[in-house]
Amino acid sequence: MKIISSVKEMQRYAEMHRMQGQRIGVVPTMGFLHDGHCELIRVAKNNSGLVITTSFVNPAQFGPAEDFNEYPRDVERDKHLAESAGSDVLFTPSREEMYPAGYLAYVEVEKITNVLEGKIRPSHFKGVATIVAKLFNVTMPQVAVFGQKDAQQAIVIKRMVSDLNFNVDIIIVPIVREPDGLAMSSRNVYLSVAERKVSPVLFQSLQLAKLLIERGERECSIVISEMTELIASKPITKIDYISIANADTLEELTALSEGNRVLISLAIRIGTIRLIDNILLTI
Ligand code: PAJ
Repeated sequence: MKIISSVKEMQRYAEMHRMQGQRIGVVPTMGFLHDGHCELIRVAKNNSGLVITTSFVNPAQFGPAEDFNEYPRDVERDKHLAESAGSDVLFTPSREEMYPAGYLAYVEVEKITNVLEGKIRPSHFKGVATIVAKLFNVTMPQVAVFGQKDAQQAIVIKRMVSDLNFNVDIIIVPIVREPDGLAMSSRNVYLSVAERKVSPVLFQSLQLAKLLIERGERECSIVISEMTELIASKPITKIDYISIANADTLEELTALSEGNRVLISLAIRIGTIRLIDNILLTI
């Protein structure tokens, strides 16, 4: 696997492969790869000829009180994992390479970035949209692969690609989970033994919501209060939000009706760690 850290070299390499008729697939990540990332790389491999995995902890998407400095990093391990999953290139730019002194340009997607994660993390999606647009310009992909784990991010990126006419197909891969249901995440390494023990409650509460809806419940407030009760019954949990929203517009729903595509998502603090999870349902 080739390792590239310069923007110019990455562009030259991508351009050369495009000229040879290769279909380029990109998998943007912040590194510290796990099985969820590897699944994205495998999907990219099945949908393109050359897979570029990018690994960059993007300062622009972290708030001032967030964990940018503590975010886990292990480049050697990432090289090994990306290569075994089928990546052809690992692009690992420095901060200065992506945001040189005097940097001023940002991409903003309106409205859908002001709710859910965006409400709690202002300017997070501005940072995400900006870095993804930049990575598209640097790696020149025909296809880009993202995870359903970050449901709102997937919706924001699809909107940006459509509104700004990026000529890139977006593939969204289902959430890869631990055997007990916890969604895989680079931040899971922060969980203490006690926190890890409680963490499957996110998935359990989503399964409870699915069951209630399958049994005919149509009032969102009832589904949310059942989920809240289950989560509150576990120690050291604090709910940031539970949302039942239109899966395309992210507008909150009060009642469910036939044919609705619904995103049920939640963010919970377990001890000091903040975890997110979601499921997509068609009613
Ligand atoms: P990161 O958190 O490293 O995630 C990279 C990609 O992997 C995202 O598309 C994310 O949704 C996906 N992913 C993470 N955990 C997953 C899981 N358990 N199952 C399936 N997919 C999973 O998301 C980011 O980085 C950044 O915001 C980024 C898009 C790279 C921009 O900086």
